[in-house]
Amino acid sequence: MPNKGVVSCTSPSNIALVKYWGKRPVQLPENPSISFTLDVCVTKTMLHYKRREDTTTDFDFELLFEGKPKPDFRPKIQSFFERIEAYVPFLKQYTLTIETSNTFPHSSGIASSASGMSALAFCLMQLEKKIHTDMTDEFCLQKASFLARLGSGSACRSIEGPVTTWGSHLDIAGSSDGYAIKFPYQIHENFENYQDTILLVDKGEKQVSSSVGHDLMHGHPFASKRFDQANDNIIRLKKILISGDLDGFIEIVESEALTLHAMMMTSLPYFILMKPATLSIINKVWEYRKETGSKLCFTLDAGSNVHLLYPDREKNQVKDFITSELVAFCQKGQYICDKIGMGAKLL
Ligand code: PMV
Repeated sequence: MPNKGVVSCTSPSNIALVKYWGKRPVQLPENPSISFTLDVCVTKTMLHYKRREDTTTDFDFELLFEGKPKPDFRPKIQSFFERIEAYVPFLKQYTLTIETSNTFPHSSGIASSASGMSALAFCLMQLEKKIHTDMTDEFCLQKASFLARLGSGSACRSIEGPVTTWGSHLDIAGSSDGYAIKFPYQIHENFENYQDTILLVDKGEKQVSSSVGHDLMHGHPFASKRFDQANDNIIRLKKILISGDLDGFIEIVESEALTLHAMMMTSLPYFILMKPATLSIINKVWEYRKETGSKLCFTLDAGSNVHLLYPDREKNQVKDFITSELVAFCQKGQYICDKIGMGAKLL
């Protein structure tokens, strides 16, 4: 067992194409999901570890966010550690300092839980690899995804890229509810370097956390139909990713985004996370597509920001469209140019 040292990595955010909304204990998805792993929006985490004498007391860790102590993140990490302790029993044998920072603006409305939890899980697996030196890379990635899931469900899809899938489905070989896997089929070249520009519509705190949202799917009048639909969309999207059918892609991705928000609007209590600017952008995207024949489409997370997805070859035209028509709907004119990426990386 090493005495002291440091491991560091970066891990990205991801954007779901078929959405995960609804879970059962412990952090298991009610339906499978598929996502693009991002490239630019990442969390960088350094994990310093030092053997401790007394291993009987509680976890011993310190958390620094952008160089400063971050007490409000502590409870989340504490409960994450409690949840994963059985799988990483060496945790209490070390004093840990977790130094973390994000490449995307703080409270930009971009969820940092996926990148943050996957980065921490990935670092923990690097530490475990130093303890159990015979562990294979494949096992490490799988276990990192498994641990990340216990931190924040969708975080398990950030470990690998460019496309990952989480949740067991008969049509996806090797899929599991416990962890995400790299999409196990050859993806069509139409999706190579696929772009995701994130329009920051509202940077405020979310009114409803995703945990509360997931819970509201229990007893939701449309829950079972929604889970069936997601399962069907996985079958359809698998074919589309293989064949490169961009019109089919647009239809599924936009329908999934609107269905996610429809579930929120029809739960009890009901809520709306989209803002007027979100709807204006959606309408502009539809007009633009009609006028130009572009393959630009949108998707949404559990918030008001809009992700614009489009082929690499349309980059220049879409940039012009964004700056001339869409920037006006972004808070302080802010947006982030991202694209699909390869997942967590050791530094
Ligand atoms: O990982 P969570 O619990 O924050 O849930 C995320 C859910 C969505 O982002 C709305 C959809 C998804 O599949 O990522």
